[in-house]
Amino acid sequence: MRGEAGALKRLSFQIAPGSDLGDVARDLQKDGLKCERRKGVSPGIAEAVTFEDPKGTPIDLYAEYQFAKPDGLPSVFNILKLGHVAYRVLDVQKIVKFYCDILGFRVSDWRGDFFVFLRCNTDHHTLNFIIDDKPQLHHIAFEVLDWSEIHKAVDYLAHNKIHLVWGPGRHVIGHNVATYHRNADLVRVEIFTEMDQMKDEELGYFDPRPWHQEFPLYPKMHGPETLRNYWGFGSERVIRGYQTNEIPSYEPIRS
Ligand SMILES: [Fe+2]
Repeated sequence: MRGEAGALKRLSFQIAPGSDLGDVARDLQKDGLKCERRKGVSPGIAEAVTFEDPKGTPIDLYAEYQFAKPDGLPSVFNILKLGHVAYRVLDVQKIVKFYCDILGFRVSDWRGDFFVFLRCNTDHHTLNFIIDDKPQLHHIAFEVLDWSEIHKAVDYLAHNKIHLVWGPGRHVIGHNVATYHRNADLVRVEIFTEMDQMKDEELGYFDPRPWHQEFPLYPKMHGPETLRNYWGFGSERVIRGYQTNEIPSYEPIRS
C-alpha cells in the first residue's frame, strides 16, 4: 500500500495494481461500510473506492496510479514520499481495530495504551494515532534519502525563515531521524530518514541497526515514559513552537 494525503482532509491508499475496484467495494460493503466509486480523484488517480474511517475521514482506495511527468527543474532537496500521517483521536482502540481488520495494517509499536504506530508496508509506521480530547491532524511526514538531505532541507527552510520546532533527533520508537517545522497552515511537518524497516514479516522483527536498544527488535508496548528521542533535544513534554495551540514566532535571524 502506498499513501497520499489530499488536502489533509482525506487519505488515499494504493492497493495491488490490477485489483478490481468493484470487488473491493463489495468486500467493504460486506464489512458493513458504505462506499462509493469516485472518478478523477487527483491528477494521478483516475478511479477509487471511497468510504469513511470511524473518525469520519474519507479513505480512497485506488489500484492504478499515473505518475506526473518530471518537470526537469533542479531541487534543493528531494522528497522520496509522503511517509506517514498522524492523527489525534478519541478512541484509539476502535481505530486500530478498523485499520487492522478492514485494511490489513499491522501494529508496530505502542507507547502505553494511548499512542499507536501502524504499518502497511516495510516502514515501521504509515499511520499514527494518539488519544486526545480534540480529534485533529497531528502531523504529516515526508521521507528523504539520508541525513544530508535533511541537512539541505533545514538549511533551505531557515533561508526562507521557517525554523524547526523540534529536532533534529532520533526517535526511540521507529528510530527515524526527524525534524519538525510548521507550514503556512500551521500543520506540523516532519522530514525524516532511517525509519525502522520490517522487511520480513515472517521473521517478525525490525531489520537490526546499530542504534537499536534491543536485538532483535520486535514490535512491543513501550512504557509511557519512554524517551521520545534516543538522541537530540526534545524529550520534554512541552516544546516551544511545536504545540498545536501556538503560532511559532521567530526572532529575525537574517536581515
Ligand atoms: Fe512522525
